[in-house]
Amino acid sequence: MGPDATAELPPWWRQAVVYQIYPRSFADANGDGLGDIPGIISRADYLLALGIDAVWLSPFYPSALADGGYDVADYRDVDPRLGTLADFDALVEALHSRGMRIVVDIVPNHTSDLHPWFQEALAAAPGSPARDRYIFREGTGPDGSEPPTDWHSMFGGSAWERVPGGQWYLHNFAIEQPDLDWSSEEVRDDFVRTLRFWSDRGVDGFRIDVAHMLTKDMTEPLLSRHELAELPRDGQHPMIDRDDVHEVYAEWRNVFDSYDPPRTAVAEAWVDKERVPLYASAESLGQAFNFDLLQADFDAAQFRTVVQDNLDLAATSGSSSTWVLSNHDVVRHATRYGLPHPGRDAEGNPARKHGVDWVLSGGTDPELDREGGERRARAATLFMLGLPGSSYLYQGEELGLHEVAEIPDADRQDPTFFRSPGVDKGRDGCRVPLPWSPDGPSFGFGDDGSHLPQPPWFAAHAVSGQESDPGSTLRLYQRGLELRGILQTDESLEWVETGRADVLHFRRPNGWNVMTNFGTEPYPLMVDEALLFSVGGPQHDLPGATTVWFTRES
Ligand code: GLC
Repeated sequence: MGPDATAELPPWWRQAVVYQIYPRSFADANGDGLGDIPGIISRADYLLALGIDAVWLSPFYPSALADGGYDVADYRDVDPRLGTLADFDALVEALHSRGMRIVVDIVPNHTSDLHPWFQEALAAAPGSPARDRYIFREGTGPDGSEPPTDWHSMFGGSAWERVPGGQWYLHNFAIEQPDLDWSSEEVRDDFVRTLRFWSDRGVDGFRIDVAHMLTKDMTEPLLSRHELAELPRDGQHPMIDRDDVHEVYAEWRNVFDSYDPPRTAVAEAWVDKERVPLYASAESLGQAFNFDLLQADFDAAQFRTVVQDNLDLAATSGSSSTWVLSNHDVVRHATRYGLPHPGRDAEGNPARKHGVDWVLSGGTDPELDREGGERRARAATLFMLGLPGSSYLYQGEELGLHEVAEIPDADRQDPTFFRSPGVDKGRDGCRVPLPWSPDGPSFGFGDDGSHLPQPPWFAAHAVSGQESDPGSTLRLYQRGLELRGILQTDESLEWVETGRADVLHFRRPNGWNVMTNFGTEPYPLMVDEALLFSVGGPQHDLPGATTVWFTRES
């Protein structure tokens, strides 16, 4: 292939499989119970064998872990419990030398309260420049002892916290996560420095945390929670998805494009559908998550609508679509699909979070159908991996892991649990350290314990057992990703009608066919001669909760 042909290739991220590592729960090299960067390096060959294109590393920066690392105390360093900058460089090298890329998480809406800027702000007087990097206001009530507004934080409770001396600061998430003021030049400049810092170290891209909330219009009088909720989300809303946030990303785009190859970015933006392309456009971050699949039931009609809507939407921005079934914020998909009412609260209403339908976390639901959930999860994953665009996987889903519901309250870490209080079990159940072997002190996660308790049933999901079992979920992911690499083609699909409402069939331009039976009745297959791959092995009927891939031109 000549250099010109190479230049024609679409950029790697358009159809990548990106594997999310939650570093404190992946592998623990120094036996302190907390996963670390040397632990990830020690598993680089596991990642290679899995067949992913890139790793997305959740925050590994110095942090008091008030929100699992999304409370960053220093954006340009590594948490000493997780390693050093030299370890980080070694990780980049370990991945690059094996042909994988690395994407890191940037958390720009808020810092940790331990960040030197916030400590400086606390020590400084009201009205001083040190406080202008954050959002400080006077309280209300005769002595200012009431918060400036009645706003709620995303994790429950007031969005304001009072500091000694009387002022209040805004925190849309945990108390330990003060919101930055993005009208501050210093704040903007510092994040550019951070993006350059990691890009210079060889990072290939960035995942931008709560990308839709950075800029705010805090002109007084401030509106009430109710008034804010009534306002249209049209780009002028004071708090959410403001048009002016794209001025920030236009500046970042210049940074990304100053590298060769250009650094990439993907937005975590919980915005109205029609506004997603603003984040995904080439002038802005370039790609945006869609969380529609992870909010859908295991249901053919819902899956088809989600896929078609998002392909159409991606086309309007020129970006590729993204697909996610699990991440560090939601109940694992094996468990969601094993519950009779996924995504519903006890009354059957959709659970809500971030202003959108969301799935309930944790819980000990006696109705969980473990095997059925795992089977449906495998079928959904193979369906997703056949789609055009990027698939984002979350560590442990390749082991068929379920949500860990049985975490004692005393061991829980997630601020949503403490601030709800206790009503929302929080997100710890999907963040329990991975089982690498069926025995040992922490199932091979490290030489000692694990910062969240692992249940006994983790033994049956251990990596070492699955590697040698041809029917395991891990082997299915490995084979699926290998074949995906071989079959990958243009970013389009064509639906093939099946005559059954619960069976979906789509075909990619090169004759790669994907068929999923979302129901329970077997579906007759007439393609056995060309059949490549299925959940249950070659067969003449496609059983319920099963996906098959085959190649056939028409
Ligand atoms: C994002 C992260 C979540 C975190 C929140 C605040 O939604 O995915 O884990 O708690 O931002 O940073």
